[in-house]
Amino acid sequence: MRKKFVAGNWKMNTTAEEGVKLAAAIAREAGSLPSDVAICPPFVYLQTVASALKGSRVALGGQDMYFEAKGAFTGEISGAMLKDVGCAYVILGHSERRHVIGETDALINKKMHAALVAGLLPILCVGETLDERESNRTMEVVGRHVREGFKGLSAEAAGKVTIAYEPVWAIGTGRNATAQQAQEVHAEIRGMIQQMYGPAIAQAIRIQYGGSVKPENAREILAQPDVDGALVGGACLKADSFLAIARA
Ligand code: 13P
Repeated sequence: MRKKFVAGNWKMNTTAEEGVKLAAAIAREAGSLPSDVAICPPFVYLQTVASALKGSRVALGGQDMYFEAKGAFTGEISGAMLKDVGCAYVILGHSERRHVIGETDALINKKMHAALVAGLLPILCVGETLDERESNRTMEVVGRHVREGFKGLSAEAAGKVTIAYEPVWAIGTGRNATAQQAQEVHAEIRGMIQQMYGPAIAQAIRIQYGGSVKPENAREILAQPDVDGALVGGACLKADSFLAIARA
């Protein structure tokens, strides 16, 4: 049985003070949560937020990283640096990085390899745009994101990955995928992982749904057999709503 995993992607939000308050409020309640939980603050607040999480069961994650280990890469952050400040996870290939910053599948694949070498657990985001869904290309796009993201990963490495299915049209729009739409794509993704790595990895790997998850819709979405948790944006910036999702 896969344990649910709920992660909060703070994106480019909060001040240091707000971040510490939010993290502390989540940490206080975390002991009673049925799911695994992680929060992913902006890079500059990782260390202060890590102190607020000390001794709790809330894991810390980065929102991105670069694939090189070190050197002249102005503005970038390595996997080892994320590890060094206490991260267990790193989000890779988020749709905002694909579509706003212009990251390619090839770049994201390099980051996947580098994250695993650094000892981080990647959360690989995949998902189609509205246009792609409406032209019936959802699985073509999601399939490519999965295949290219996992390219060259051994079964052992693949087993450390969480996949987040985040339809681009559902992110920050208030228009979540229905539980059925999510389940359909999650089942297809699990089928792909089974073809690539066999049934044991496919059954163990966790696939989160992300895109306008709120306390009001979390229970129905998380009740789907292939939905193993949520990657939450807007609703993770308030401790109450993030905790309510993690309890759902
Ligand atoms: P929202 O929950 O704000 O739609 O964002 C989802 C997301 O992008 C999480 O990574």
